Amino acid sequence: TTRGELKYEGKAKRVYATPHPGEYIVEYKDDATAFNGVKKAQIGGKGAINNAITAHLFPQLEQAGVPTHFIERLSDTEQRVRAVTIIPVEVIVRNVAAGSFSKRLGIEEGTVLARPVVEYCYKSDALGDPLINTDTAVALGWATPEELTRIRELALKVQAFLVPYFAARGVRLIDFKLEFGRLADGTVVLADEISPDTCRFWDAETNEKLDKDRFRRDLGGVEDAYSEMLARVTREL
Ligand code: C5P
Repeated sequence: TTRGELKYEGKAKRVYATPHPGEYIVEYKDDATAFNGVKKAQIGGKGAINNAITAHLFPQLEQAGVPTHFIERLSDTEQRVRAVTIIPVEVIVRNVAAGSFSKRLGIEEGTVLARPVVEYCYKSDALGDPLINTDTAVALGWATPEELTRIRELALKVQAFLVPYFAARGVRLIDFKLEFGRLADGTVVLADEISPDTCRFWDAETNEKLDKDRFRRDLGGVEDAYSEMLARVTREL
């Protein structure tokens, strides 16, 4: 498959057209940003690791009843996906208080939530992905009520698959962010990635952070943490 026109370049990925109108190629970059692009760096091997982790998880999510955009991994840093238009609503699922949730609500990081919390943000670099609710998304034409019902249902299916999957590999899934897209026929599918860039992973024994917070918070050992997560995700039980 050959790359065509660059359709979109984000902070961590590029999306290319292909000769097949229903397919795109996604290229994962080593670039890392935090605090809405204020902090920037390269993380060696990150693109390949996030590509590999996503390529390992998405087919299993598909099996678990979550349709995704993923078709196949093409190379270290590329995957073939079904073409979607991204719905500009980022969906965050939280099991344990951390990050912006802890800050906003004054809840200590590490506080276990009595049930998963689904949050929605408007996907806008210019605005720093502000928190919204589903009424906002409908009123501004970003998604229909039916799509939002489906998105919540799929996000909770992802949650139900991933929590025990990671627990079996010695990892607590603290929270994660999903993006959804529409196929040409309007079907809502899981898009984007699931990786240490988009999830918080804490070691089950030590609570050591194994995700992008090592970069955000200057904890060091960023590459090692990403490699460790790849090893755990792909571990055969
Ligand atoms: O920063 P916050 O606590 O809201 O992040 C919640 C989760 O969503 C974290 O796992 C973080 O990595 C992810 N996230 C993301 N992209 C964003 C915002 C948050 O992947 N733009």
